[in-house]
Amino acid sequence: MATVLAGPLLVDRVVAREIAYKLGYTLAGSSLRRFPDGEMLARVDDAERLEGTVVIVKTMARPMAESLLQAAMLADAARGLGAERIVMVSPYLAFARQDRRFLPGEPVTAALAVKTLASSGVDALVAVEVHKEAVLEWFPGGRVNVRPYRYMADIAGLKGGDILVLAPDLGALERARMLATHIGAGYDYLVKKRDRITGEVVIEPKSIDARGKRVVIVDDIVSTGGTVAKAAASLLGQGAKSVEVMVAHWMGVPGTPERLRAAGVSRVIAGLTLPPAETGGLVEYVDLAPLLAESIRELA
Ligand code: R5P
Repeated sequence: MATVLAGPLLVDRVVAREIAYKLGYTLAGSSLRRFPDGEMLARVDDAERLEGTVVIVKTMARPMAESLLQAAMLADAARGLGAERIVMVSPYLAFARQDRRFLPGEPVTAALAVKTLASSGVDALVAVEVHKEAVLEWFPGGRVNVRPYRYMADIAGLKGGDILVLAPDLGALERARMLATHIGAGYDYLVKKRDRITGEVVIEPKSIDARGKRVVIVDDIVSTGGTVAKAAASLLGQGAKSVEVMVAHWMGVPGTPERLRAAGVSRVIAGLTLPPAETGGLVEYVDLAPLLAESIRELA
């Protein structure tokens, strides 16, 4: 006996409904209340439906700190209703990029985030493409990092030929290798430097034979689009035929589609892990619920 408890966002409900259907679990909902002083309360609406293992689907959309606290509130509420085991599904696990103290005086927020989930009663954590998988090691229970690129490539119809898969930095090379091997394409990486004070990204010149190639840049997240825009401009400058982007998380920061179009990006394939945002007709979303359901089944 198990229940999928949907977080309060529409995207939580859409993903939760599909997971419940695929796994044959009962579906329950939650809602959010806001008090006059600004405090919030996330609560389980269908208390009587919770039984056995409770799989909570809660993505950490903006504002991320509130989303994290809502996830913790729902875990605590489910525990209070007698859940035997709690699996948290975070299609987007916020704060994962803050995985070390980049400058003195900074916290390791990624560790705080997963420890918050653990201390609220979560037994197992399933997340989509965490910036660095090592972040999940701060979580003491079962954990899965769902890597969606092969699945997304199949859905989007990407196949070898003249494709060159590129990681925007060395840290993302494994993503490029995974995707390129799957579709039968070549792969490489660019050299990216980010100013830790201003956030400014610089793509350093590196000779890559991009001439005449259909380039697919693969990354975990497009936030402002700065990284991908710089990479696209550099590749088109080196003679690439076209530049497409595959990304697990599309944050939808205003102005991103325009920035990418201006840099020459012709298509973005993004996982549906966050509320659909302004896409400027550039983004094709891929539903990742089937992959999440598979990971939950493996954890059980
Ligand atoms: C950083 O290492 C990440 O993998 C992404 O490349 C980065 O967060 C993207 O941010 P933006 O779209 O703002 O450049």
